Amino acid sequence: MKKHKRDILALAAKYRDTESTPPCTHFGECGGCLFQDIPYENQLKLKLEYLNSLLEGIVGTGEIAPSPPLGYRNRMDYVTAFGRMGLRRAGRYRHVVDIISCPILQEKSNRLLGELRPLLAEVEDYDYLRHSGYLRYAVFRQGYFTGECMVNFVTAARENRLPASLEDFITRLDSSSLVLSDSLADLSHGEVYAVLQGGSINENFDGLTFRITPNSFFQSNSPVARELYRDIRRLIDGERVLDLYSGVGSISLYIARGAEHVTGVEIVPEAVDAAKENARINGIANVDFVCDDAGEYLREFSAGASTVVLDPPRAGAHPRLITRLNEVRPKKIIYVSCNPVALRQDLSALEGYRIDPVRAYDMFPQTPHVETLAVLTLP
Ligand SMILES: C[S@@+](CC[C@H](N)C(=O)[O-])C[C@H]1O[C@@H](n2cnc3c(N)ncnc32)[C@H](O)[C@@H]1O
Repeated sequence: MKKHKRDILALAAKYRDTESTPPCTHFGECGGCLFQDIPYENQLKLKLEYLNSLLEGIVGTGEIAPSPPLGYRNRMDYVTAFGRMGLRRAGRYRHVVDIISCPILQEKSNRLLGELRPLLAEVEDYDYLRHSGYLRYAVFRQGYFTGECMVNFVTAARENRLPASLEDFITRLDSSSLVLSDSLADLSHGEVYAVLQGGSINENFDGLTFRITPNSFFQSNSPVARELYRDIRRLIDGERVLDLYSGVGSISLYIARGAEHVTGVEIVPEAVDAAKENARINGIANVDFVCDDAGEYLREFSAGASTVVLDPPRAGAHPRLITRLNEVRPKKIIYVSCNPVALRQDLSALEGYRIDPVRAYDMFPQTPHVETLAVLTLP
């Protein structure tokens, strides 16, 4: 078990309430949510206490932005294996819990899940023991503020073996694709080899449209992500900004109005294309997007941006990138993190910055995960 999970679970005991009933019938069996037996207010207190103890000696955590406790997720990757369709059993990779309905997923996606289950009964699923079979995942995505729905079928072979009985279901979606995942690795993304419907969905934050394609990252809790983006925009004051790990460009585009110029750097070509398309759709001209490794890009980068936004994947920023930031010394670093342990490590390694109290965001209610925003400025 990862250190973050171990530590927050150790603290969780004192916030549990034996009287409270977990909202999900799969609780205890499914590995998705571990905090459903903790009342929501206590989950927020627990996350704050955890962050304050983890970041002690570096910076305090002032507050945590709450979320709708249930029905918030805009994405769920359902594994289809061993005759079941659902999520993996807690700590057991080779066991799948049949999920009939998931209370943290948005309601419309839950309804679609209910419709899809019987339709997939005649489709061969994937055998993770023999590494044979066809359908590995059904991935549900939904724009929280638009209601647009996407269901992608991740398959181990590049051929459409979906039955004709699925046609009506698919045509009622905004987007559906066949995605190839033919390696031994357990991936729910890969090459889009057939678009069955649409090809993308839209999310909308404060009048800005974000086009989301099957493989591109988008924060999984839209109301809380919007809150986070609003806070980041308040920190921008007409300067040039470098947005590292920019995904489909959502932060870059959201802050563009307050900036002189924003350059987004992202390693997934499909996400960069989507970011450029998102800039076009929204008529935003003072942004550009580069497809590159964030560390490599910064290696060549000499000057120009006084603010760097950093939103790395769970593993945190690459140590080379932190070293380079210490050389480039941007005036302000806005660090968004979904991994407090990596945040602690990176904040300790960045030299000479004043760090404001961290703000936390409950991006993942009912689970041990927490998102944070740290602002570092040169004194
Ligand atoms: C946590 S997401 C942030 C996305 C975006 N900022 C947002 O709010 O939607 C991290 C992003 O970093 C990208 N990424 C991962 N490794 C990278 C690297 N070495 N260089 C650049 N981007 C990378 C991922 O593809 C993903 O889109």
